[in-house]
Amino acid sequence: MSALGKSQVVGVIGAGTMGAGIAQVAAAAGHHVRLYDAVAGAAAKGREGVGAGLEQFIARGRMSRVEADALVGRIEVADTLEVLADAALVIEAIVEDLDVKRKLFAQVEAIVSPDAILATNTSSISVTAIARECRRPERVAGAHFFNPAPVMKLVEVVSGVATSNEIAQIVFDTVIAWGKVAVHAKSTPGFIVNRVARPYYAEALRLHEEQVADPATLDALMTEGGGFRMGPFELMDLIGNDVNYAVSLSVFNAYYQDPRFRPSIVQLELVNSGRLGRKSGRGFYDYSGNTAKAEAATEPLPEVTTLLEGLVIGKETVIDGVRIALTDGRTARDRAVAAGQPVILHDLTGPPGKRTRMGFAASGDLPASFVGRFVTTLKSHGMVTTRLPDWPGLVVMRTVAMLANEAFEACMQGVSSEAGVDKAMRYGVNYPKGPAEWAREIGLTHVLSVLDHLYEETRDPRYRASLALRMAANTT
Ligand code: NAI
Repeated sequence: MSALGKSQVVGVIGAGTMGAGIAQVAAAAGHHVRLYDAVAGAAAKGREGVGAGLEQFIARGRMSRVEADALVGRIEVADTLEVLADAALVIEAIVEDLDVKRKLFAQVEAIVSPDAILATNTSSISVTAIARECRRPERVAGAHFFNPAPVMKLVEVVSGVATSNEIAQIVFDTVIAWGKVAVHAKSTPGFIVNRVARPYYAEALRLHEEQVADPATLDALMTEGGGFRMGPFELMDLIGNDVNYAVSLSVFNAYYQDPRFRPSIVQLELVNSGRLGRKSGRGFYDYSGNTAKAEAATEPLPEVTTLLEGLVIGKETVIDGVRIALTDGRTARDRAVAAGQPVILHDLTGPPGKRTRMGFAASGDLPASFVGRFVTTLKSHGMVTTRLPDWPGLVVMRTVAMLANEAFEACMQGVSSEAGVDKAMRYGVNYPKGPAEWAREIGLTHVLSVLDHLYEETRDPRYRASLALRMAANTT
Protein backbone atom coordinates (compact mmCIF):
# COMPACT_ATOMS: atom_id res chain seq x y z
CA MET A 1 0.00 0.00 0.00
CA SER A 2 1.59 3.26 -1.11
CA ALA A 3 -1.25 5.69 -0.46
CA LEU A 4 -0.43 9.27 0.45
CA GLY A 5 -0.52 9.93 4.19
CA LYS A 6 -3.32 12.06 5.57
CA SER A 7 -0.81 14.70 6.60
CA GLN A 8 0.15 15.29 2.98
CA VAL A 9 -1.43 18.26 1.26
CA VAL A 10 -3.62 17.77 -1.81
CA GLY A 11 -4.01 20.55 -4.37
CA VAL A 12 -7.09 20.75 -6.58
CA ILE A 13 -7.18 23.07 -9.59
CA GLY A 14 -10.56 24.02 -11.00
CA ALA A 15 -13.39 24.42 -8.50
CA GLY A 16 -16.35 23.59 -10.73
CA THR A 17 -18.58 20.52 -10.54
CA MET A 18 -15.74 18.02 -10.44
CA GLY A 19 -13.01 20.02 -8.67
CA ALA A 20 -15.23 20.91 -5.72
CA GLY A 21 -16.38 17.28 -5.47
CA ILE A 22 -12.82 15.96 -5.56
CA ALA A 23 -11.76 18.51 -2.93
CA GLN A 24 -14.59 17.22 -0.74
CA VAL A 25 -13.47 13.60 -1.18
CA ALA A 26 -9.84 14.39 -0.29
CA ALA A 27 -10.86 16.54 2.69
CA ALA A 28 -13.27 13.86 3.90
CA ALA A 29 -10.31 11.47 3.92
CA GLY A 30 -8.47 13.86 6.23
CA HIS A 31 -6.18 15.75 3.86
CA HIS A 32 -5.63 19.47 3.95
CA VAL A 33 -6.79 20.57 0.50
CA ARG A 34 -5.79 23.74 -1.32
CA LEU A 35 -8.42 24.59 -3.94
CA TYR A 36 -7.53 26.98 -6.75
CA ASP A 37 -9.60 28.36 -9.62
CA ALA A 38 -8.59 30.88 -12.29
CA VAL A 39 -11.86 32.76 -11.84
CA ALA A 40 -11.82 34.98 -8.77
CA GLY A 41 -14.35 33.80 -6.20
CA ALA A 42 -14.91 30.40 -7.88
CA ALA A 43 -12.87 28.43 -5.34
CA ALA A 44 -14.73 30.07 -2.43
CA LYS A 45 -18.00 29.28 -4.18
CA GLY A 46 -16.87 25.68 -4.69
CA ARG A 47 -16.07 25.36 -0.99
CA GLU A 48 -19.43 26.89 -0.05
CA GLY A 49 -21.10 24.37 -2.34
CA VAL A 50 -19.37 21.54 -0.46
CA GLY A 51 -20.67 22.96 2.84
CA ALA A 52 -24.19 23.30 1.47
CA GLY A 53 -24.10 19.73 0.16
CA LEU A 54 -23.10 18.42 3.60
CA GLU A 55 -26.24 19.92 5.17
CA GLN A 56 -28.26 16.96 3.91
CA PHE A 57 -25.86 14.52 5.58
CA ILE A 58 -26.29 16.45 8.82
CA ALA A 59 -30.07 16.50 8.40
CA ARG A 60 -30.08 12.72 7.91
CA GLY A 61 -27.85 12.22 10.91
CA ARG A 62 -25.05 10.77 8.81
CA MET A 63 -22.58 13.45 9.85
CA SER A 64 -22.36 15.80 12.80
CA ARG A 65 -22.07 19.55 12.30
CA VAL A 66 -18.66 19.43 13.96
CA GLU A 67 -17.47 16.84 11.42
CA ALA A 68 -18.93 18.80 8.51
CA ASP A 69 -17.31 22.03 9.70
CA ALA A 70 -14.00 20.26 10.13
CA LEU A 71 -14.24 18.83 6.61
CA VAL A 72 -14.99 22.21 5.05
CA GLY A 73 -12.29 23.72 7.25
CA ARG A 74 -9.73 21.41 5.64
CA ILE A 75 -10.51 22.97 2.24
CA GLU A 76 -8.47 26.11 1.89
CA VAL A 77 -9.19 28.60 -0.87
CA ALA A 78 -5.94 29.28 -2.72
CA ASP A 79 -5.74 32.68 -4.36
CA THR A 80 -2.73 31.83 -6.47
CA LEU A 81 -1.26 28.67 -7.91
CA GLU A 82 1.89 29.24 -5.85
CA VAL A 83 -0.08 28.34 -2.71
CA LEU A 84 -0.09 24.75 -4.00
CA ALA A 85 3.73 24.57 -3.69
CA ASP A 86 3.71 22.03 -0.83
CA ALA A 87 1.09 19.70 -2.33
CA ALA A 88 2.13 16.04 -2.62
CA LEU A 89 -0.64 15.45 -5.15
CA VAL A 90 -2.27 18.00 -7.44
CA ILE A 91 -5.48 17.04 -9.23
CA GLU A 92 -6.51 19.17 -12.18
CA ALA A 93 -10.22 19.55 -13.03
CA ILE A 94 -10.30 22.58 -15.30
CA VAL A 95 -11.84 23.17 -18.71
CA GLU A 96 -11.57 20.20 -21.14
CA ASP A 97 -9.00 21.77 -23.48
CA LEU A 98 -5.63 20.19 -24.25
CA ASP A 99 -3.68 23.43 -24.74
CA VAL A 100 -5.02 24.99 -21.56
CA LYS A 101 -4.30 21.82 -19.57
CA ARG A 102 -0.80 21.48 -21.02
CA LYS A 103 0.07 25.07 -20.12
CA LEU A 104 -1.29 24.59 -16.62
CA PHE A 105 0.75 21.42 -16.05
CA ALA A 106 3.94 23.20 -17.13
CA GLN A 107 3.12 26.04 -14.73
CA VAL A 108 2.34 23.67 -11.86
CA GLU A 109 5.50 21.66 -12.42
CA ALA A 110 7.55 24.79 -11.86
CA ILE A 111 5.83 25.42 -8.53
CA VAL A 112 5.54 22.03 -6.79
CA SER A 113 8.32 19.82 -5.44
CA PRO A 114 10.09 17.43 -7.85
CA ASP A 115 8.36 14.40 -6.33
CA ALA A 116 4.82 15.80 -6.30
CA ILE A 117 2.33 13.78 -8.33
CA LEU A 118 0.26 15.52 -11.00
CA ALA A 119 -3.11 14.06 -11.93
CA THR A 120 -5.73 15.09 -14.44
CA ASN A 121 -9.46 14.44 -14.19
CA THR A 122 -9.89 14.68 -17.96
CA SER A 123 -12.57 12.42 -19.37
CA SER A 124 -11.63 12.59 -23.02
CA ILE A 125 -8.12 13.96 -23.55
CA SER A 126 -5.05 11.74 -23.83
CA VAL A 127 -3.09 11.73 -20.58
CA THR A 128 0.01 11.18 -22.70
CA ALA A 129 -0.70 14.39 -24.61
CA ILE A 130 -1.34 16.42 -21.44
CA ALA A 131 1.98 15.25 -19.98
CA ARG A 132 4.02 15.88 -23.13
CA GLU A 133 5.38 19.33 -22.24
CA CYS A 134 6.20 18.33 -18.67
CA ARG A 135 9.81 17.97 -17.65
CA ARG A 136 8.89 14.80 -15.75
CA PRO A 137 5.95 13.26 -17.63
CA GLU A 138 6.41 10.03 -15.64
CA ARG A 139 4.75 11.66 -12.65
CA VAL A 140 1.60 12.59 -14.57
CA ALA A 141 -1.41 10.25 -14.39
CA GLY A 142 -5.15 10.42 -14.91
CA ALA A 143 -7.47 10.27 -11.91
CA HIS A 144 -10.84 10.13 -13.62
CA PHE A 145 -13.60 10.62 -11.06
CA PHE A 146 -17.26 10.30 -11.98
CA ASN A 147 -19.97 12.85 -11.37
CA PRO A 148 -20.91 13.49 -8.56
CA ALA A 149 -17.41 12.74 -7.26
CA PRO A 150 -18.38 12.34 -3.58
CA VAL A 151 -21.07 9.79 -4.51
CA MET A 152 -19.76 7.80 -7.46
CA LYS A 153 -17.42 5.05 -6.34
CA LEU A 154 -15.21 4.61 -9.37
CA VAL A 155 -11.93 6.30 -10.20
CA GLU A 156 -10.13 5.27 -13.37
CA VAL A 157 -6.40 5.62 -12.76
CA VAL A 158 -5.07 6.32 -16.21
CA SER A 159 -1.49 5.75 -17.33
CA GLY A 160 -0.10 7.64 -20.29
CA VAL A 161 2.84 6.37 -22.32
CA ALA A 162 5.33 7.97 -19.91
CA THR A 163 3.50 7.46 -16.59
CA SER A 164 5.58 5.39 -14.17
CA ASN A 165 3.96 2.31 -12.65
CA GLU A 166 4.92 3.53 -9.21
CA ILE A 167 3.08 6.85 -9.66
CA ALA A 168 -0.03 5.11 -11.03
CA GLN A 169 0.05 2.76 -8.03
CA ILE A 170 0.30 5.63 -5.53
CA VAL A 171 -2.71 7.34 -7.13
CA PHE A 172 -4.55 3.98 -7.16
CA ASP A 173 -3.82 3.27 -3.49
CA THR A 174 -4.62 6.84 -2.49
CA VAL A 175 -8.07 6.89 -4.04
CA ILE A 176 -8.79 3.51 -2.45
CA ALA A 177 -7.81 5.03 0.91
CA TRP A 178 -10.34 7.77 0.07
CA GLY A 179 -13.07 5.11 -0.09
CA LYS A 180 -13.16 4.76 -3.87
CA VAL A 181 -13.03 1.74 -6.14
CA ALA A 182 -10.00 2.15 -8.39
CA VAL A 183 -9.16 0.52 -11.69
CA HIS A 184 -6.03 0.89 -13.77
CA ALA A 185 -6.56 1.97 -17.37
CA LYS A 186 -4.32 2.76 -20.29
CA SER A 187 -4.72 6.20 -21.84
CA THR A 188 -6.92 5.40 -24.82
CA PRO A 189 -10.00 7.29 -26.06
CA GLY A 190 -12.85 6.98 -23.54
CA PHE A 191 -10.57 5.04 -21.15
CA ILE A 192 -12.76 2.15 -19.92
CA VAL A 193 -16.22 3.40 -19.00
CA ASN A 194 -16.85 6.00 -21.70
CA ARG A 195 -15.74 3.48 -24.30
CA VAL A 196 -17.31 0.23 -23.11
CA ALA A 197 -20.62 1.99 -22.31
CA ARG A 198 -21.11 3.28 -25.88
CA PRO A 199 -23.20 0.27 -27.04
CA TYR A 200 -25.61 0.81 -24.16
CA TYR A 201 -26.80 3.96 -25.91
CA ALA A 202 -25.94 3.00 -29.48
CA GLU A 203 -27.91 -0.26 -29.63
CA ALA A 204 -30.98 1.35 -28.03
CA LEU A 205 -30.79 4.27 -30.46
CA ARG A 206 -30.44 1.91 -33.35
CA LEU A 207 -33.41 -0.24 -32.27
CA HIS A 208 -35.44 2.95 -31.94
CA GLU A 209 -34.24 4.14 -35.35
CA GLU A 210 -35.23 0.77 -36.84
CA GLN A 211 -38.66 1.19 -35.21
CA VAL A 212 -38.37 -2.06 -33.29
CA ALA A 213 -39.82 -0.35 -30.21
CA ASP A 214 -40.31 3.08 -28.69
CA PRO A 215 -37.99 4.52 -25.99
CA ALA A 216 -40.33 3.64 -23.10
CA THR A 217 -40.54 0.01 -24.20
CA LEU A 218 -36.79 -0.26 -24.74
CA ASP A 219 -36.12 1.36 -21.35
CA ALA A 220 -38.55 -1.03 -19.66
CA LEU A 221 -36.86 -4.04 -21.26
CA MET A 222 -33.42 -2.88 -20.18
CA THR A 223 -34.43 -2.11 -16.60
CA GLU A 224 -37.14 -4.66 -15.77
CA GLY A 225 -35.72 -7.33 -18.04
CA GLY A 226 -31.98 -6.60 -18.01
CA GLY A 227 -31.70 -5.29 -14.46
CA PHE A 228 -30.04 -2.00 -15.44
CA ARG A 229 -30.76 0.80 -13.00
CA MET A 230 -31.75 3.28 -15.70
CA GLY A 231 -32.90 2.68 -19.24
CA PRO A 232 -30.71 4.09 -22.03
CA PHE A 233 -33.19 6.79 -23.04
CA GLU A 234 -33.89 8.09 -19.55
CA LEU A 235 -30.13 8.03 -18.95
CA MET A 236 -29.40 9.99 -22.14
CA ASP A 237 -32.03 12.53 -21.08
CA LEU A 238 -30.38 12.79 -17.67
CA ILE A 239 -26.84 13.17 -19.03
CA GLY A 240 -28.09 15.59 -21.68
CA ASN A 241 -28.40 14.50 -25.28
CA ASP A 242 -25.94 17.20 -26.34
CA VAL A 243 -23.29 15.89 -23.92
CA ASN A 244 -23.99 12.22 -24.67
CA TYR A 245 -23.94 12.85 -28.42
CA ALA A 246 -20.68 14.83 -28.13
CA VAL A 247 -19.00 11.98 -26.21
CA SER A 248 -20.22 9.45 -28.79
CA LEU A 249 -18.93 11.59 -31.63
CA SER A 250 -15.58 12.16 -29.94
CA VAL A 251 -15.07 8.43 -29.26
CA PHE A 252 -16.18 7.63 -32.85
CA ASN A 253 -13.65 10.06 -34.31
CA ALA A 254 -10.92 9.06 -31.87
CA TYR A 255 -11.22 5.44 -33.10
CA TYR A 256 -10.92 6.56 -36.73
CA GLN A 257 -14.65 6.28 -37.29
CA ASP A 258 -14.91 2.64 -36.39
CA PRO A 259 -18.57 1.69 -37.13
CA ARG A 260 -18.82 0.17 -33.62
CA PHE A 261 -18.99 3.72 -32.28
CA ARG A 262 -21.17 5.29 -34.97
CA PRO A 263 -23.37 8.00 -33.39
CA SER A 264 -27.10 8.23 -34.09
CA ILE A 265 -28.93 10.62 -36.38
CA VAL A 266 -32.02 10.31 -34.17
CA GLN A 267 -30.07 11.72 -31.23
CA LEU A 268 -28.45 14.41 -33.40
CA GLU A 269 -31.89 15.55 -34.53
CA LEU A 270 -33.03 15.74 -30.94
CA VAL A 271 -30.01 17.95 -30.17
CA ASN A 272 -30.72 20.04 -33.28
CA SER A 273 -34.24 20.63 -32.04
CA GLY A 274 -33.06 21.72 -28.59
CA ARG A 275 -34.61 18.68 -26.88
CA LEU A 276 -31.58 18.10 -24.70
CA GLY A 277 -33.26 16.08 -21.97
CA ARG A 278 -34.23 16.90 -18.41
CA LYS A 279 -32.32 20.18 -18.41
CA SER A 280 -34.35 21.59 -21.31
CA GLY A 281 -37.65 20.07 -20.20
CA ARG A 282 -37.79 17.64 -23.08
CA GLY A 283 -35.63 14.97 -24.65
CA PHE A 284 -36.80 11.49 -25.54
CA TYR A 285 -39.39 12.10 -22.82
CA ASP A 286 -41.37 15.18 -21.93
CA TYR A 287 -40.48 16.66 -18.52
CA SER A 288 -42.65 19.74 -18.76
CA GLY A 289 -45.35 19.60 -16.13
CA ASN A 290 -45.75 16.18 -14.66
CA THR A 291 -46.35 14.18 -17.79
CA ALA A 292 -45.88 10.61 -16.78
CA LYS A 293 -43.44 8.55 -18.77
CA ALA A 294 -45.10 6.81 -21.70
CA GLU A 295 -46.28 3.31 -20.90
CA ALA A 296 -44.19 0.49 -22.22
CA ALA A 297 -46.02 -1.55 -24.81
CA THR A 298 -47.10 -4.96 -23.54
CA GLU A 299 -48.84 -7.88 -25.13
CA PRO A 300 -52.53 -7.70 -24.14
CA LEU A 301 -53.60 -10.57 -21.96
CA PRO A 302 -55.69 -13.00 -23.95
CA GLU A 303 -58.49 -15.08 -22.53
CA VAL A 304 -56.70 -18.35 -22.98
CA THR A 305 -55.33 -19.26 -19.58
CA THR A 306 -53.92 -22.73 -20.10
CA LEU A 307 -50.65 -22.75 -18.30
CA LEU A 308 -47.52 -23.65 -20.12
CA GLU A 309 -45.85 -26.03 -17.72
CA GLY A 310 -42.17 -26.63 -17.78
CA LEU A 311 -41.02 -23.38 -19.26
CA VAL A 312 -37.49 -22.79 -18.10
CA ILE A 313 -36.17 -19.39 -18.96
CA GLY A 314 -32.76 -19.51 -20.56
CA LYS A 315 -33.06 -23.13 -21.65
CA GLU A 316 -34.34 -24.28 -24.98
CA THR A 317 -37.51 -26.26 -24.64
CA VAL A 318 -40.19 -27.72 -26.92
CA ILE A 319 -43.80 -27.56 -25.80
CA ASP A 320 -46.66 -28.81 -27.94
CA GLY A 321 -44.42 -28.69 -30.99
CA VAL A 322 -43.28 -25.12 -30.39
CA ARG A 323 -39.63 -24.41 -29.72
CA ILE A 324 -38.96 -21.75 -27.07
CA ALA A 325 -35.39 -20.50 -26.95
CA LEU A 326 -33.14 -17.66 -25.92
CA THR A 327 -32.21 -15.50 -28.92
CA ASP A 328 -28.90 -16.36 -30.55
CA GLY A 329 -28.99 -13.43 -32.96
CA ARG A 330 -31.02 -15.19 -35.65
CA THR A 331 -34.62 -14.27 -36.31
CA ALA A 332 -37.45 -16.52 -35.13
CA ARG A 333 -38.30 -17.06 -38.78
CA ASP A 334 -34.81 -18.37 -39.59
CA ARG A 335 -34.84 -20.64 -36.59
CA ALA A 336 -38.30 -21.93 -37.40
CA VAL A 337 -37.14 -22.82 -40.90
CA ALA A 338 -34.03 -24.54 -39.49
CA ALA A 339 -35.98 -26.40 -36.80
CA GLY A 340 -38.97 -27.25 -38.96
CA GLN A 341 -41.30 -26.07 -36.21
CA PRO A 342 -42.70 -22.74 -34.91
CA VAL A 343 -40.37 -20.78 -32.65
CA ILE A 344 -40.68 -18.25 -29.84
CA LEU A 345 -37.44 -16.42 -29.18
CA HIS A 346 -37.07 -14.65 -25.89
CA ASP A 347 -34.72 -11.94 -24.80
CA LEU A 348 -32.08 -12.14 -22.10
CA THR A 349 -33.60 -11.72 -18.67
CA GLY A 350 -33.14 -13.06 -15.17
CA PRO A 351 -35.16 -15.48 -13.11
CA PRO A 352 -38.74 -14.56 -12.18
CA GLY A 353 -38.64 -12.71 -8.89
CA LYS A 354 -35.42 -10.95 -9.85
CA ARG A 355 -36.59 -9.73 -13.24
CA THR A 356 -40.12 -8.76 -14.18
CA ARG A 357 -40.16 -8.31 -17.95
CA MET A 358 -39.24 -10.40 -20.94
CA GLY A 359 -39.23 -9.41 -24.59
CA PHE A 360 -40.01 -12.04 -27.20
CA ALA A 361 -40.65 -12.54 -30.88
CA ALA A 362 -42.45 -15.35 -32.66
CA SER A 363 -42.16 -16.96 -36.07
CA GLY A 364 -45.10 -16.29 -38.39
CA ASP A 365 -46.30 -19.90 -38.26
CA LEU A 366 -46.93 -19.81 -34.51
CA PRO A 367 -50.63 -20.17 -33.65
CA ALA A 368 -51.99 -17.03 -31.95
CA SER A 369 -53.49 -19.15 -29.16
CA PHE A 370 -50.02 -20.38 -28.23
CA VAL A 371 -48.76 -16.82 -27.87
CA GLY A 372 -51.65 -16.25 -25.48
CA ARG A 373 -50.69 -19.28 -23.40
CA PHE A 374 -47.07 -18.19 -23.35
CA VAL A 375 -47.95 -14.68 -22.19
CA THR A 376 -50.34 -15.93 -19.54
CA THR A 377 -47.87 -18.43 -18.17
CA LEU A 378 -45.19 -15.84 -17.81
CA LYS A 379 -47.61 -13.50 -16.14
CA SER A 380 -48.40 -16.20 -13.61
CA HIS A 381 -44.64 -16.26 -12.90
CA GLY A 382 -44.61 -12.50 -12.31
CA MET A 383 -43.18 -11.66 -15.74
CA VAL A 384 -44.69 -9.04 -18.01
CA THR A 385 -44.06 -9.80 -21.65
CA THR A 386 -43.33 -7.42 -24.48
CA ARG A 387 -43.88 -8.76 -27.95
CA LEU A 388 -41.31 -7.38 -30.36
CA PRO A 389 -41.03 -7.59 -34.12
CA ASP A 390 -38.97 -10.59 -35.27
CA TRP A 391 -35.65 -8.73 -35.07
CA PRO A 392 -32.18 -10.25 -34.72
CA GLY A 393 -30.74 -10.36 -31.19
CA LEU A 394 -33.81 -8.70 -29.60
CA VAL A 395 -32.97 -5.94 -27.10
CA VAL A 396 -31.18 -6.89 -23.86
CA MET A 397 -29.18 -9.71 -25.43
CA ARG A 398 -28.06 -7.55 -28.33
CA THR A 399 -26.94 -4.80 -25.97
CA VAL A 400 -25.18 -7.08 -23.48
CA ALA A 401 -23.41 -8.92 -26.33
CA MET A 402 -22.16 -5.59 -27.70
CA LEU A 403 -21.07 -4.38 -24.24
CA ALA A 404 -19.19 -7.65 -23.72
CA ASN A 405 -17.65 -7.37 -27.18
CA GLU A 406 -16.29 -3.93 -26.34
CA ALA A 407 -15.04 -5.19 -22.97
CA PHE A 408 -13.10 -8.03 -24.62
CA GLU A 409 -11.74 -5.67 -27.30
CA ALA A 410 -10.53 -3.20 -24.65
CA CYS A 411 -8.85 -6.02 -22.70
CA MET A 412 -7.20 -7.33 -25.86
CA GLN A 413 -5.72 -3.86 -26.41
CA GLY A 414 -4.34 -3.80 -22.87
CA VAL A 415 -6.60 -0.96 -21.71
CA SER A 416 -7.47 -2.95 -18.60
CA SER A 417 -8.04 -6.47 -17.34
CA GLU A 418 -11.36 -8.33 -17.54
CA ALA A 419 -11.82 -7.82 -13.81
CA GLY A 420 -10.89 -4.14 -14.19
CA VAL A 421 -13.43 -3.55 -16.96
CA ASP A 422 -16.15 -5.33 -15.00
CA LYS A 423 -15.41 -3.32 -11.87
CA ALA A 424 -15.36 -0.08 -13.87
CA MET A 425 -18.77 -0.75 -15.41
CA ARG A 426 -20.33 -1.83 -12.13
CA TYR A 427 -19.07 1.13 -10.14
CA GLY A 428 -18.76 3.80 -12.86
CA VAL A 429 -22.19 3.33 -14.45
CA ASN A 430 -23.88 0.97 -11.97
CA TYR A 431 -24.35 -1.96 -14.36
CA PRO A 432 -25.91 -4.96 -12.61
CA LYS A 433 -22.99 -7.14 -13.71
CA GLY A 434 -19.66 -6.57 -15.39
CA PRO A 435 -20.05 -7.21 -19.14
CA ALA A 436 -17.28 -9.83 -19.32
CA GLU A 437 -18.56 -11.70 -16.29
CA TRP A 438 -22.10 -11.51 -17.71
CA ALA A 439 -20.94 -12.89 -21.04
CA ARG A 440 -19.18 -15.78 -19.29
CA GLU A 441 -22.37 -16.49 -17.37
CA ILE A 442 -24.46 -16.56 -20.57
CA GLY A 443 -21.74 -18.60 -22.26
CA LEU A 444 -19.10 -17.03 -24.49
CA THR A 445 -20.05 -19.32 -27.37
CA HIS A 446 -23.63 -18.10 -27.17
CA VAL A 447 -22.61 -14.43 -27.02
CA LEU A 448 -20.29 -14.98 -29.97
CA SER A 449 -23.11 -16.58 -31.96
CA VAL A 450 -25.36 -13.57 -31.21
CA LEU A 451 -22.70 -11.25 -32.62
CA ASP A 452 -21.92 -13.44 -35.61
CA HIS A 453 -25.61 -13.72 -36.49
CA LEU A 454 -26.14 -9.97 -36.05
CA TYR A 455 -23.20 -9.46 -38.37
CA GLU A 456 -24.63 -11.87 -40.94
CA GLU A 457 -28.14 -10.44 -40.74
CA THR A 458 -27.17 -6.77 -40.87
CA ARG A 459 -23.91 -6.97 -42.89
CA ASP A 460 -22.79 -4.12 -40.67
CA PRO A 461 -19.12 -4.30 -39.56
CA ARG A 462 -20.22 -2.74 -36.29
CA TYR A 463 -21.18 -6.26 -35.14
CA ARG A 464 -17.89 -7.97 -35.91
CA ALA A 465 -16.86 -9.99 -32.91
CA SER A 466 -13.69 -9.07 -31.09
CA LEU A 467 -10.88 -11.50 -31.80
CA ALA A 468 -10.38 -11.76 -28.04
CA LEU A 469 -13.99 -12.84 -27.52
CA ARG A 470 -13.75 -15.35 -30.37
CA MET A 471 -10.53 -16.84 -29.00
CA ALA A 472 -11.91 -16.97 -25.46
CA ALA A 473 -15.12 -18.63 -26.71
CA ASN A 474 -13.11 -21.19 -28.65
CA THR A 475 -11.06 -22.17 -25.61
CA THR A 476 -13.97 -22.56 -23.21
P1 NAI B 1 -16.73 23.06 -14.73
O1 NAI B 1 -16.94 23.96 -15.88
O2 NAI B 1 -17.84 22.82 -13.78
O3 NAI B 1 -15.47 23.61 -13.87
C1 NAI B 1 -14.23 23.97 -14.43
C2 NAI B 1 -13.60 25.01 -13.52
O4 NAI B 1 -12.25 25.19 -13.95
C3 NAI B 1 -14.29 26.37 -13.59
O5 NAI B 1 -14.58 26.81 -12.28
C4 NAI B 1 -13.26 27.27 -14.27
O6 NAI B 1 -13.28 28.60 -13.80
C5 NAI B 1 -11.96 26.58 -13.92
N1 NAI B 1 -10.86 26.83 -14.86
C6 NAI B 1 -10.92 26.86 -16.21
N2 NAI B 1 -9.68 27.07 -16.70
C7 NAI B 1 -8.84 27.16 -15.65
C8 NAI B 1 -7.43 27.34 -15.53
N3 NAI B 1 -6.66 27.49 -16.59
N4 NAI B 1 -6.90 27.35 -14.29
C9 NAI B 1 -7.69 27.20 -13.20
N5 NAI B 1 -9.02 27.06 -13.25
C10 NAI B 1 -9.59 27.01 -14.47
O7 NAI B 1 -16.17 21.70 -15.34
P2 NAI B 1 -16.30 20.22 -14.74
O8 NAI B 1 -17.55 19.61 -15.21
O9 NAI B 1 -15.99 20.24 -13.30
O10 NAI B 1 -15.11 19.48 -15.52
C11 NAI B 1 -13.77 19.66 -15.19
C12 NAI B 1 -12.93 18.54 -15.76
O11 NAI B 1 -13.43 17.30 -15.30
C13 NAI B 1 -12.95 18.46 -17.28
O12 NAI B 1 -11.68 18.03 -17.70
C14 NAI B 1 -14.00 17.40 -17.56
O13 NAI B 1 -13.82 16.75 -18.78
C15 NAI B 1 -13.76 16.45 -16.39
N6 NAI B 1 -14.89 15.61 -16.00
C16 NAI B 1 -16.16 16.12 -15.95
C17 NAI B 1 -17.22 15.30 -15.55
C18 NAI B 1 -18.62 15.84 -15.48
O14 NAI B 1 -19.57 15.04 -15.45
N7 NAI B 1 -18.82 17.16 -15.42
C19 NAI B 1 -17.01 13.88 -15.20
C20 NAI B 1 -15.62 13.48 -15.21
C21 NAI B 1 -14.63 14.32 -15.63
